[in-house]
Amino acid sequence: MQYKHLGTTGMAVSALCMGTMTFGREASPEESKAMFDLAREAGINFIDTANIYSNGGSEELVGAFLQGCRDEWILATKATYPMEPKGPNDRGSSRRHLRMQVEASLRRLKTDRIELFYLHGFDPHTALEETMRVLDDLVREGKILSIGVSNFAAWQVMKAQGIAMARGYATIQAIQPMYSLVKRQVEVELLPMAQSEAIAVVPYSPLGAGVLTGKYVQKDKGTTSSRLNESDMYAKRYGVDGYQETARRFVEVAQDLGVRPATLAIAWVAAHPGVTAPILGARNATQLEQSLEALSIEITPELYERIASLSPTPPPPTDRLEETR
Ligand SMILES: NC(=O)c1ccc[n+]([C@@H]2O[C@H](COP(=O)([O-])OP(=O)(O)OC[C@H]3O[C@@H](n4cnc5c(N)ncnc54)[C@H](OP(=O)(O)O)[C@@H]3O)[C@@H](O)[C@H]2O)c1
Repeated sequence: MQYKHLGTTGMAVSALCMGTMTFGREASPEESKAMFDLAREAGINFIDTANIYSNGGSEELVGAFLQGCRDEWILATKATYPMEPKGPNDRGSSRRHLRMQVEASLRRLKTDRIELFYLHGFDPHTALEETMRVLDDLVREGKILSIGVSNFAAWQVMKAQGIAMARGYATIQAIQPMYSLVKRQVEVELLPMAQSEAIAVVPYSPLGAGVLTGKYVQKDKGTTSSRLNESDMYAKRYGVDGYQETARRFVEVAQDLGVRPATLAIAWVAAHPGVTAPILGARNATQLEQSLEALSIEITPELYERIASLSPTPPPPTDRLEETR
């Protein structure tokens, strides 16, 4: 396993992060434990959960699995989006909601600290000054050790970072954006921003929620137990013209190289110089095994470009296409 530094925190994380969104949902507690053990055996020390995953169930399982090996792990969780039941104050990045959620996460995770605490999304109703101040308070109290943000635009990250820096608060050390061969918006602003500012990038959905395994272009369009067949939200997110054609051609490249598409898709995301650790998602250990092999593939500059050419490169923020190369 390779390890990289998480921003400027000094904490070293494995170059693959174990995602747990399926824990307690698609994956039973037993299957979740099998995946946790497999990740640990592979040298993964970085695990990602959130309060909303299985409505707290994922954090409870992770908390149970961490007993006896807690100090090996860099533990990340998140809050902002509402858990069930959804009351009017059970959401957002207010002082009240974040404090309550950190305390609840610590209880479910059976720990006294969260190494990386993310805002799960941008809250337009709370002043960033208030949010960054409460995060700084939580860092000073030792309940969270570093701060990340997920699903933020680059201007939102830099606005929050500017406030933190001007006021001497703990700064943002990691971002968690969506990134895969079919979702490349992050290349326009977020990745260059993170590289410029020494912020770690921990991308989620590197398989495009399973699209890049090629299973939806097969005759049976994936088994019934698959994300796009079970979730309208994911079916909409990935039901975009051209994605299946990209997946079909991507599978051909993987076959040509003699590797499994899931392995290659994660290797491609991990190969971007701005990426710290893609987050692996799986419903069982068999799926996870393929993803864990990603770092064994050498992505040469030629192979990187061959794969990148299978989907449109998003235009630069200046729209000056002639200056992109
Ligand atoms: N910050 C956020 O807003 C956010 C959002 C999403 C995820 N995340 C984090 O990122 C992690 C990974 O995200 P993700 O699950 O969307 O990642 P992903 O890698 O794009 O998709 C994983 C899904 O693809 C399918 N799959 C995986 N390996 C496969 C294989 N070998 N063959 C066929 N299908 C396979 C499985 O779904 P099916 O079997 O059900 O088809 C699996 O659950 C999550 O666990 C979570 O920690 C964060």
